Amino acid sequence: MRLGPLSKTAGSILRHIPLSMWPQIISRRTGVLTPRAMTPLPHPASSGGANIKMLFEFLDRTASIDGGVAECGVWRGRTLVAMSLYLKQHGSSKKVWGFDSFAGFDGDVPHNFQDSSLRLVQQKLSIFGLQNAKIVPGYFRAAFPVVEHERFSFVHVDCDIHDSYVECLNFFYPRMNPGGVILFDEYEDPEWPGAKDAVDEFCGHHGIPIQSAMVDNYRKSFITRSAAQEPAT
Ligand SMILES: C[S@@+](CC[C@H](N)C(=O)[O-])C[C@H]1O[C@@H](n2cnc3c(N)ncnc32)[C@H](O)[C@@H]1O
Repeated sequence: MRLGPLSKTAGSILRHIPLSMWPQIISRRTGVLTPRAMTPLPHPASSGGANIKMLFEFLDRTASIDGGVAECGVWRGRTLVAMSLYLKQHGSSKKVWGFDSFAGFDGDVPHNFQDSSLRLVQQKLSIFGLQNAKIVPGYFRAAFPVVEHERFSFVHVDCDIHDSYVECLNFFYPRMNPGGVILFDEYEDPEWPGAKDAVDEFCGHHGIPIQSAMVDNYRKSFITRSAAQEPAT
């Protein structure tokens, strides 16, 4: 991404243009995922990363539910910045919390995400004037207590590995308001089998139905916090 005086000017113009209208080239230049940058998959699949149209649909669906938005797994802010700007452009007062170690993964993984960058994400938030987003850097275990007393309407879990999924589910599910949604980016993604294991274990234990959504042949899974369910322990 080219960040500098020109980007600051561009950012101050782009922030007023609905994200759905941004040409694909702008999405690529800014590193902000937008609807026109999404190429439909040739057939239904649970791999391929996040589809921003689906994230926007869930933000709309949960707009009337009290509570903030969170993303667990920010990497370079492609989806976090898009969600923050989308909410701002729609006049929402919701706060967006972003969690990432910005260290990526060691060892034998399909992608190590070691090109994560807190500085880059903060620069992007700054050029688009986004004060509704708050990044909490660090490993989830240490970072989540910052929002211990918050409640949430939508959480995007995009952190790939089993143990991280377990931490997200244990922490966020009890903090979802009724009707709130937790969307899983990697459920049934063959590259990250630990995600499905973690969700199946948690949902099986608590009797939570796993639902499915599809946009552009991107198939993702999610759970909804029902009013009847007791907080998970
Ligand atoms: C798939 S990337 C996120 C992609 C981003 N949402 C996007 O669409 O561009 C996964 C990120 O999760 C982060 N992550 C995974 N487990 C974590 C943990 N336990 N604590 C902090 N960050 C974690 C990694 O550092 C990595 O940047």
